[in-house]
Amino acid sequence: MITSRIEALRRLQKANGIACVVLMPGANLRYFTGLEKHLSERPLLAFLPADGEPVLLLPELEAPAARSLLGREIRLFTYRDEEGHEHAFYRVAEALNLAGQPLGIEYLTMRVLELRRLEQAFPDCPIMAVEPWLPPLRMSKDETELAHMRRAVRIAQEAMQRLLDEKAIRPGRTELEIAADLKVALLRAGNQGDAFAPIVVAGPNSAQPHATPSDRPLAEGDLVIIDWGAVYAGYRSDITRTFILGQPTEEMQRIYRTVRTANKAARLTIRPDRTAQDIDRAARQIITQAGYGDYFIHRTGHGLGLETHEPPYIVEGNLDILKPGMTFTVEPGIYVPGLGGVRIEDDVVVTEDGVETLTTLPRELIAL
Ligand code: CO
Ligand code: CO
Repeated sequence: MITSRIEALRRLQKANGIACVVLMPGANLRYFTGLEKHLSERPLLAFLPADGEPVLLLPELEAPAARSLLGREIRLFTYRDEEGHEHAFYRVAEALNLAGQPLGIEYLTMRVLELRRLEQAFPDCPIMAVEPWLPPLRMSKDETELAHMRRAVRIAQEAMQRLLDEKAIRPGRTELEIAADLKVALLRAGNQGDAFAPIVVAGPNSAQPHATPSDRPLAEGDLVIIDWGAVYAGYRSDITRTFILGQPTEEMQRIYRTVRTANKAARLTIRPDRTAQDIDRAARQIITQAGYGDYFIHRTGHGLGLETHEPPYIVEGNLDILKPGMTFTVEPGIYVPGLGGVRIEDDVVVTEDGVETLTTLPRELIAL
């Protein structure tokens, strides 16, 4: 258990009237307890009451590892495969004795399975979302977290450098083949998990921001968007660079220059006391002025940390004030159907007086 974080959580729980926070395997569980767990068919939940002893409900086979990590700091309620998990929920409810006070759950993570069990075992407790107030607790990173993020950026950049050195991105190879090379290069560079499946999209496919790699071979004249990331100690990087195979047309050059200028303008706007919305506007203004406003069809960025997408979201309407230690992406893009797309994505951290860009790969248009 990470005491200072648990204390901060308890203060927020009390302020939000939540008697007990219930966490699923994932980023929040890891942040507060250090437990690295994957979702499986066997429920595993941490119950963190505002007052009193934390509780872990888990399959018996997971208990020894949890015990050795957490010692006596947490009370374990286990179940065996052959008996099922249902009664464990009732035992936890009895131990916590919440007397109808609210439970806070992760709306974005909890499954119907766990929700139904909670409703049965805690029939009088209202159930509320923790998302409005809990994930923002993780927005500002400390030095250790930043060191992990720097390492995740280094791993991702090293993998891309290997692809470029090996001339893996070239006409005739498919998007899927290049994505496979990138996954291997990421592992070789020290990637510890899957930040997300790398996106390699070229030509017409590059005009869709979230397209998935296909078996279409790359062709001369294609714009190629590659969006990839790495994980180190749970922390993620998320980078995008756009390449051109052969000679860019004049319009491609204009689009590329516009996106690059927008990326830079957004990054230069970042400093404490600016809002998330200010950063989105700085990028969007450049793209709109160039006449491509209708082709910039997503927010400018998203928070980055134990999750690939987390607060703060860099989007119109988000008046969250930037603070030192916040980490997020800056990733303006222009997507023109038929012509292709350009996105340039960097990872940044807000500093005391401005911003530090963690990604260092060149931002000029590289012809391959
Ligand atoms: Co990305
Ligand atoms: Co991103």
